[in-house]
Amino acid sequence: MTGGGGLQSLLINGGKRLSGEVWISGSKNAVLPMLAATVLFQEPCCIRACPNLTDVDAAIDILNHLGAKTMRSDGCLWVDPRPIYRWDIPDALVNRMRGSVFFAGALMARMGKCRLIQPGGCSLGKRPVNFHVDGLMALGAKPDNLDSDVFSGPLTGAQITLPYPSVGATENLILAGIGASGVTTIRNAAREPEITCLCDFLRAGGCGISGDGSLCIQVDGGLPVSAQMRVIPDRMEAATFACAAASAGGDVLIRNAEPNHFESVIRTLQAAGCQITRQDEHIRIQAGELISPGSITTEPYPGFPTDAQAPVMAALLRAKGTTMIHETVFSERMNHISGFNAMGAHVEQMGGSACIHGVDHLTGSTVTAQDLRGGAALAIAALAAHGKTTIHGLKHILRGYEDFAMKLRSLGADVRQA
Ligand code: EPU
Repeated sequence: MTGGGGLQSLLINGGKRLSGEVWISGSKNAVLPMLAATVLFQEPCCIRACPNLTDVDAAIDILNHLGAKTMRSDGCLWVDPRPIYRWDIPDALVNRMRGSVFFAGALMARMGKCRLIQPGGCSLGKRPVNFHVDGLMALGAKPDNLDSDVFSGPLTGAQITLPYPSVGATENLILAGIGASGVTTIRNAAREPEITCLCDFLRAGGCGISGDGSLCIQVDGGLPVSAQMRVIPDRMEAATFACAAASAGGDVLIRNAEPNHFESVIRTLQAAGCQITRQDEHIRIQAGELISPGSITTEPYPGFPTDAQAPVMAALLRAKGTTMIHETVFSERMNHISGFNAMGAHVEQMGGSACIHGVDHLTGSTVTAQDLRGGAALAIAALAAHGKTTIHGLKHILRGYEDFAMKLRSLGADVRQA
């Protein structure tokens, strides 16, 4: 059970090496656009390995609000989109997560109308939706009046060049392109594996999409019929458990990981002294004393992922030497540093860069998660700290990690929710 249920904090008694096996769940960032995509289908569809996360709960609440029928059973989520009858989503639902923005493209495609407002989600600095709006307008969506956030179709295929390979805008425009007449071309598209997962789902329903995984994606208009698909493993959950093993030390087998999807994180941990071996879709990480891997810069895929920046920083707090980390994707994604320093780390922040001076010891403290990955990173640091750490703001972690405390406990960590 991962739901909020009044649980507010994570209590970690650190200093124990990790050992054993952990199973990686379906990817949060892959399943959220897939859930919005279900709106487009003409028949019921099924998403397998759908993770049990509060962000997924929020997407299901939106589907139910729109009129769809949803049912969870044995890790599968069934969605029957046929009864969908509305396009408006109340602010309270939109504000629950960033992934609510995908419903704009999908509803434009299915209903010819949508409302596009600033969605909720982690606070990482400015996260405008101008690429989404401009892309929809390039496809022919028109605001109802000058300042309106309500857009109406019809949509016609167009050539769109994104100013930056935004993951969310690429996914939203693929969804909208499905409802456009003719062909939509998205240039400077994001290449993340979650985009290919979304396209595979739509292709399984009969859609004509090509080029995903490259900088140029082509979408043939036409709604999908029905599909069943398994969500790809969550590469950020896998990276987080690899960082946890690196931080606490130990020998951990991460099962159902897709190592090719977080190659840059694996290479960084190897450069820091971890032994990582691949066995099909599993990776084994053996970690002892760490050294600085040098300098890290976050970039769009296949570069080093911004989502792994905080977990990797946490793993390197005790690495010998000095590590520089430059965050280039989001303007304010270093809110975890104050928590690290409260545990005895020595991290200096200079704007979007951090200089980590490796320390010998970390000590348990009381800290607060400010966002999803930053919260997981505080837990990673706490696993290596002597004594007890209380991490407030557990709700941020529950948005994106299924059974986080239970999985860490299965590796021998002393962790509980309170
Ligand atoms: N951007 C704009 N205008 C836009 C869209 C994006 O300026 O219209 C900027 C953003 O402000 C940011 C950059 O472009 O500086 C990249 O943002 P992107 O659109 O790629 O990010 P996103 O779609 O909002 C998704 C993930 C994030 C992940 C980023 C980058 C989902 C639901 N969220 O966000 O995941 O960090 O891509 O890989 O897929 C997380 O899981 O913790 C998380 C934050």
